[in-house]
This record gives sequence, structure tokens and C-alpha cells, in this order.
Amino acid sequence: MRQVEAYSRLAGVYDEIVIDPCHDRWASFLHELWSTDPEGVRSVLDLCCGTGLLAGELIARGYRVAGVDAADAMLALARERLGPEVALSRMTLPDLAVEGVFDAAVCTFDGLNYLAPDELRLTMAAVALRLRPAGWLVFDLHTDAMMDFTISNPNVAGTSAGNDFVISSIVDPGARTCDTRIELTRPRDGDPFSEQHRQYFHTDADVRASLHDAGFAVTAVGEEYTHQPADASTLRATWTLSSRPSATRSSSNPSPHDGDPPSGATMPGLLRAVARTVVVAGTATAQWARQWPVEDLWAARLTR
Ligand SMILES: C[S@@+](CC[C@H](N)C(=O)[O-])C[C@H]1O[C@@H](n2cnc3c(N)ncnc32)[C@H](O)[C@@H]1O
Repeated sequence: MRQVEAYSRLAGVYDEIVIDPCHDRWASFLHELWSTDPEGVRSVLDLCCGTGLLAGELIARGYRVAGVDAADAMLALARERLGPEVALSRMTLPDLAVEGVFDAAVCTFDGLNYLAPDELRLTMAAVALRLRPAGWLVFDLHTDAMMDFTISNPNVAGTSAGNDFVISSIVDPGARTCDTRIELTRPRDGDPFSEQHRQYFHTDADVRASLHDAGFAVTAVGEEYTHQPADASTLRATWTLSSRPSATRSSSNPSPHDGDPPSGATMPGLLRAVARTVVVAGTATAQWARQWPVEDLWAARLTR
């Protein structure tokens, strides 16, 4: 089976496997959160935007969104979803060469788990420079409970929209890494392929130190895009933060709402299919079919 770069061929089936409408729910949570801001939130920077699932939901709610992602194939699908007006740029964090200043930044579906701890620290510092004073940063991260869960459930097989896949994860608890092999053993289109992904289970202390150093104040750590506080059973924790005025480039920036980086090139479109059903097999059980850790994009959202 041919091994390809992470999020290259996988991009074509990403939306088919993220079948639960979680981004709609997550965007509603953000919208409610930001509605409390007296300054108002209009511009949002979507870090690791992927195929633009969250950006699309935010744009539908009236936000001006700019997205960055490291994978061309994911950005191509985002471009197709969001249209030519939306600013999308290929960037590999911690490099964040976007122009302008944003009211808020987000990173959903464990995008920040792809960063090594030192990259996370640099990314937080870079994001702080792109936010207006008292701007928002909201992201989710895998927790220790997710690490334990993945260790206990390393192999998953499933079918989605005619794609058969197998996902195998190897966790090194000492290094807090998770190496995941995603195999499309029988893709609906094209030849079988596999991708190798590495993620990191950041420690709470590392995250807090990175945020503190970047000048962020942690407002809440909640259960996946809800107001319920995270606890020891939380698999995906949502961090909500505010940038402190001293950490931001308030004086040298243009206006608080002009956060549109230059538009990226329009990529050839890829058809986005809609997933209908995922059948969980292998070691998966009905109990955790709704909170499946492996590569959370598959994980958390399986139909039963
Ligand atoms: C699980 S997907 C999440 C996509 C999107 N945020 C969502 O909610 O569907 C992770 C994304 O992070 C991107 N990514 C991984 N490492 C990155 C990095 N260092 N810089 C920018 N993007 C990165 C991948 O290309 C992929 O699109």
C-alpha cells in the first residue's frame, strides 16, 4: 500500500468521515461566547482550518474568517467550500505570517495536537501577536483521558461512504506521542493508501506555561465546546482564553477588525461527498463509538 504525505489523499475523504455535525455545534458555542464581548467579534483566524468546516459555519453566522493550514489538499477543499473571497493561506505553524489583527483565533479538532511542545509555545506567541487586546483564543486539545483511551483502544476499522479504513495508533506515554497510521484499505475512489500522523498529548502544565508566556489568561477549560468544566473523563478539552493587552501589538497594528491576510491561490476543486454512515468494527465498541480518540476526526463522531 502506498504511503503518502499526511492530509494529502486523506483530504479527499476527511469530510466523509467527520460525519457528525460537530462544527455546527462548536460554531454555535463560539458565537454565544463571543456575543458577550462588548467590543464585538467580527474577524476570526482559523488555525489548522482543514477543509473549512468550522470556517464555513462561522461565515454563515456573519464572521469574517481567514484560514491557515499546512496541507494544500485540505486548503483546496476549504477553497471549494468557502469560495474565492475567503483568505486561505498555506502555513505551517508555528510560522504564522498573516497580515492584520483579529478579534479571535480558533483551532478545532485537535489541530494543536500536531505540534510538538516547543512548536506549541512558539505558536501561542505568534497567535498573541495577531490578536487585538483582549482578543479571544479558543482551541481544543486531547487530554490525558484521551491518551489512556487510545492506549486501550489502539485499532479501529470502519466504513464511511464506501471507504473502508483502518486506523492504528501507537502511544508512547513517556514521550506523550501518538503515531497513527491511517489506511484506506478500500477507498471508494482510487488506489489504497496510508498516511502516518504524529500527534502530541500536551501536559496541562506545558499548555498553561505556553499560554502564560504568550500573555494569555485562561478563562475556562471545558468539556468539548460546552460550558461544562472539563474533568478527568474529558477526552477533548476546550480552552478559552483572552489575550492580555500587554501581549498584543495594539499600537502598531492597523484596525482591530481588518484581520484578512492576503488571499491564497484558488486551487482546483475537489468534490466533497457527504458521509452517511460509519460502521465501527475491529476493537471498537458501541460504548466508545461516540468518543473515539484515534484521530479525532474519525473518532468522536460516529453514527450508531
Ligand atoms: C484534524 S484536522 C482539523 C481540521 C479543522 N480544524 C477541523 O476542525 O476540521 C488537523 C489539521 O491540522 C493541519 N495541520 C497539522 N499540522 C499543522 C501545522 N504545523 N501547521 C498548520 N496546519 C497543520 C492539518 O493539515 C489538518 O488540516
